[in-house]
Amino acid sequence: MEMKLAIVIVILFSLLLSFYGAYYLINPDQRGEEILSKQGIPYPTVIAHRGASIKAPESTAEAYIKARDLGVDYLEADLQRTKDGEIVVFHDQTLQRTSNVEEVFPDRKEDKLGSFTYQELKKLDFGSWFNENSPRYGSEKYEGLGIITLEELIAIAEGGQQTPGLVLETKSPEKYPGIEREIVDILEQEGWLDTAAERDYTKTIFFSFSEESLRGFKELAPQAPRILLVTDNMITRRSWTHWLERAAGLADGLGTKGFMNWPWYIAEAHDQGLFVFPYTINELWQVKLLAHFHSSGYITDRPDVVLNFFDRMSELSIINDG
Ligand code: G3P
Ligand code: CA
Repeated sequence: MEMKLAIVIVILFSLLLSFYGAYYLINPDQRGEEILSKQGIPYPTVIAHRGASIKAPESTAEAYIKARDLGVDYLEADLQRTKDGEIVVFHDQTLQRTSNVEEVFPDRKEDKLGSFTYQELKKLDFGSWFNENSPRYGSEKYEGLGIITLEELIAIAEGGQQTPGLVLETKSPEKYPGIEREIVDILEQEGWLDTAAERDYTKTIFFSFSEESLRGFKELAPQAPRILLVTDNMITRRSWTHWLERAAGLADGLGTKGFMNWPWYIAEAHDQGLFVFPYTINELWQVKLLAHFHSSGYITDRPDVVLNFFDRMSELSIINDG
């Protein structure tokens, strides 16, 4: 008898869960657009991850120019600091994967970026590795590409027919004490921290896995939206609640791995006024699925795929990209 009761309870519980899931699959929460609009962020937001980094070497001028000319809303960039204090755009801790450091500084090939001066980094080629790794998209023009600074990234964003905003990530900020102040100073000087009310959209969004770093930005530039990046690979309901609690009062949105973006999780984030941007969305089927769930945004290495899906490719990019 006890066994039968247990089976009935399990069946009822499973049915309840299925109805709950089916409800959200059929009626996904649509409050993302409204939440973004309060922040002055366009919906759905297309963010080029390290630039158009499938078709050009990541984090270089070429990757960002390509993404800008495609018509993305934001360029995503990882920021670190050189030994002599320049803020540069670079993802990895070390230089080996995406430069010829081994050739130029053989004794320092495993050293961290922060141990190199800006002039030393300027000697490196950050493009040729891409031609070897991606012959399909490789090009002679990528040979010898240099590292870029935050100021150069801003100039790229401002240099086209359309001006995308910037999603700026502090990479390992604990290694660079005070980097938030330095980033904010540059953005202020360049007029990139005006509020959305002062212009037609929000130009700068801060992005970090580090809550400490987001706290810094909240204090220094409270007008700019902040996104807390979620580190869990496999999210559970309990850990999702935990992330929502961590974001409360600190962030305006969460950046999550694509498969965490189940619509019932998104609805819970929306209940708290948080938007959710999934990363890294590179396949068309992912875009279609997330679009069905009214995803707030798409962080992607392939902005052409996302923009094409939304019929938003710029005329310039159609001419240049074919
Ligand atoms: O888009 C989120 C992403 O930027 C965080 O991961 O390692 O690519 O910087 P990562
Ligand atoms: Ca990043």
